[in-house]
Amino acid sequence: MMIIAKRGIANLTYLQFTKTKGSHQAFICGVLNTLTKSILFGIAFTLITVAATAQIAKQKAIPGSKKISSELFGLFFEDINYAADGGLYAELVQNRSFEYSPTDKRDWHPFSFWQYVTPGFSYGSVSVETNFPVHPNNPHYIVMTIEHAGDTGIGIKNHGFERMVIKAGEKYNLSFFGKQLSAESIALSVSLQDPQGKVLSENKISTSSQDWKKYTATLSPSAGSDSASLVIIATTKGKLAMDVISLFPEKTFMKRSNGLRQDLAQLLADIKPKFMRFPGGCLVHGDGLGNMYRWKNTIGPVEQRIEQKNIWGYHQTAGLGYYEYFQFCEDINAKPLPVLPAAVSCQNSGGTWRIGGTGQKALPMSEMQAYIQEVLDLIEWANGPATSTWGAKRAAAGHPGSFNLQYIGIGNEDKITPEFEQRFKMIYDAVRSKHPEITLIGTSGPFSDGEDFIKGWDIAAALEVAVIDEHYYKNPEWFLGNQYRYDSYDRKKSKVYLGEYASWGNSMKNALAEAVYMAALERNGDIVHMASYAPLLAKKNFTQWQTDMIFFDNSSVFLTPNYYVQKMFSSNQGDYFLGNVISKGTKDTTFATSCVYDSETGDIILKLVNAGTHDKNVKIDLSHFKRIIPGATKVELKANAGAVNSFENPRNVAPVTSDFKAGKKFDYVVPASSLTVIRVKTK
Ligand code: AHR
Repeated sequence: MMIIAKRGIANLTYLQFTKTKGSHQAFICGVLNTLTKSILFGIAFTLITVAATAQIAKQKAIPGSKKISSELFGLFFEDINYAADGGLYAELVQNRSFEYSPTDKRDWHPFSFWQYVTPGFSYGSVSVETNFPVHPNNPHYIVMTIEHAGDTGIGIKNHGFERMVIKAGEKYNLSFFGKQLSAESIALSVSLQDPQGKVLSENKISTSSQDWKKYTATLSPSAGSDSASLVIIATTKGKLAMDVISLFPEKTFMKRSNGLRQDLAQLLADIKPKFMRFPGGCLVHGDGLGNMYRWKNTIGPVEQRIEQKNIWGYHQTAGLGYYEYFQFCEDINAKPLPVLPAAVSCQNSGGTWRIGGTGQKALPMSEMQAYIQEVLDLIEWANGPATSTWGAKRAAAGHPGSFNLQYIGIGNEDKITPEFEQRFKMIYDAVRSKHPEITLIGTSGPFSDGEDFIKGWDIAAALEVAVIDEHYYKNPEWFLGNQYRYDSYDRKKSKVYLGEYASWGNSMKNALAEAVYMAALERNGDIVHMASYAPLLAKKNFTQWQTDMIFFDNSSVFLTPNYYVQKMFSSNQGDYFLGNVISKGTKDTTFATSCVYDSETGDIILKLVNAGTHDKNVKIDLSHFKRIIPGATKVELKANAGAVNSFENPRNVAPVTSDFKAGKKFDYVVPASSLTVIRVKTK
């Protein structure tokens, strides 16, 4: 076991116990009492010094190297643009629990996206009721009364999120809760149908309980359709309550139940992010206090989760909740970075962004102790033993071991008001004293500068916050012109998490401006601890934010040049920066380079970004390394500045991988409008 110590600016030492392989980390958990923690802290600190010295000694062998964050590039996930429901979350039924309402969208109601069907000479009724729900958190359900079943019965039909994509030869898992309200069993036909009503797959279920009971069936279509619907028909007389009517492809990412869309999840895994931030974004602090994202509402059986309006103008089922986020992070080997509200709502609540954003509301002081406990409980839920109150809930959901939570963000680009500051401090102090092993991340408002930015940083300095979250969306010229921003940051202050950034656009020009900036982030990886592009996912025809990383519909995806830049940087991270390997002559804002060394693999990684219109020359000097293996790999992303990808032309801009022969010293011509990553092995 190797022990690494990290010191934030704030001189707050936090500890991270890491197995040498880096795949598992076990943290000191809240189960330890304060005394045990102090003793352990002392022992750990000694070991840290030894380990850290050993590491530095090892690296002294590479002259000019600088230790940088080993988890610089990660993902930002927010349920914006239908990124979760209708997106990454693989559920095919829309409004499965009949919880949609006009609060989500003015013309939505509990039966939205459902249709009452009477295919033959049959009659009856469907109503939405609330008298005896499956669970009080999930109040609405439907009641079907079959007065005359006729030849074909009566039923309901769901079109999913703009219809369902069903593939021939694959399996689909249907489930629902049913409660027979009449004495006799009710016969049901469950089927997938194409738009003409052709049955693609059918199964039969007979109800067997007058209490709520979960029924399941598998549908195995022999023919596919990209615009199918789920149809449930009762073919016998009676009365039946139904709720949480769900359909998942069997093939979810890593075959997880209640899982994620395989293709989208794989694209995120391919980036090899070191961390993933979730669940937002503005979704975190919410549209008014009642809409804040409360993690406890999103765990446990899906029928017990509390659904609510999505601040971006639709609905959150919370089917993709904290358990699923943590599980996904573990599956893709990314550290989980949950961001919790700082007990204030979004300053733009109620659409007050139109008048300058004065809609921030703060939780009353009388609720703060309970809220702080909610934050502390998250740590126990994620890291505590399965015998602890909250750890037991994690274990019951299928994960007895710790999720190894190391970071928590408090607040999302909030307006820095006295109310915010007071509440942030209360939460911060409580977590710091009970869980010094957790690194807390503060916030500095929505912009790269200005009042909130200054006040956010002042709070960070006063409280010695280890890491602070900066956000900015700018034009590409800004990124080129500001690539030296972090060179002058005070190394004694908080480290930076650049939690949201993007240049406004998805052309090659935008992607290259981001690449120039990312090279600068690597150079400043001693002060910039983490960075994540935002937003991540955007569904065709359902976007609320124009510039995004991955665009998708129900069946296809296109990756932006920005995605490829993120992937090329993120899957090629190092933990040492070397400023003396690449010589590029003049200082030119359209031309940036970076060399990092990954001490785990022993690989040297060169990144060469030319956002200009002419080829540029560099000299590479790898003679600082005792040994290099000439057979290297090169990945090149090259296209005209205006080039974009689209659903019609998804690979217009795409990286090309080739072999590369590296010498100890060589010259290289970096093509105009390109990003090149060269990976050289030393062992
Ligand atoms: O990334 C989109 C939005 O931009 C986020 O929700 C918010 O934090 C920021 O303003």
